[in-house]
Amino acid sequence: MTKFIIIDKASALTPEALSFLKDYDQRFFPTPWDEKSWEQVFDSASERFILLADEGFALFDINSADSLAHLLKILINPDKRGAGLGKALLSEAIEILKSRGIKTFFLEVEENNDSAIGLYQRAGFKIIHKKKHFYSNGSTALIMTLSV
Ligand SMILES: CC(C)(COP(=O)(O)OP(=O)(O)OC[C@H]1O[C@@H](n2cnc3c(N)ncnc32)[C@H](O)[C@@H]1OP(=O)(O)O)[C@@H](O)C(=O)NCCC(=O)NCCS
Repeated sequence: MTKFIIIDKASALTPEALSFLKDYDQRFFPTPWDEKSWEQVFDSASERFILLADEGFALFDINSADSLAHLLKILINPDKRGAGLGKALLSEAIEILKSRGIKTFFLEVEENNDSAIGLYQRAGFKIIHKKKHFYSNGSTALIMTLSV
């Protein structure tokens, strides 16, 4: 069974976890963060929540006052995709955040990212809006939300 590690504050972010996150993001995410953004991941004005697995991670911005969670990134190692790991990671993250009082999840996803859109729809997310020219390459984002 996949083991999940919660990282929800700077003190919980070990150097090993930070280098895993940076490495996976750089190698496997379509729009990776630069080094500095990862070093400062917990310096954000909003809270952050990371769920780490052996094969990937999910990263959220949390707004506790409004019971909102914004999924910033979810990523599975390309060699391990299509085996249910993304689904397991996302549903575990949703359950943990729900138990912490989150009621609404939202995210942006590139409109041609079929695997991610499939993953989100499978988890119950609905498309509520489209934003043209959202990404730096000019492509459109779908805005999706889930109420729990
Ligand atoms: C999106 C991503 C996390 C999915 O992870 P995964 O482990 O391959 O997904 P799963 O095997 O758990 O599949 C979950 C559901 O997603 C959908 N899905 C997965 N791959 C798909 C594909 N290639 N096409 C369409 N739907 C797909 C299916 O509905 C699937 O459910 P089902 O198998 O019960 O039908 C993975 O493809 C990834 O890391 N992509 C690159 C990073 C990225 O683009 N992240 C999203 C932007 S934030």
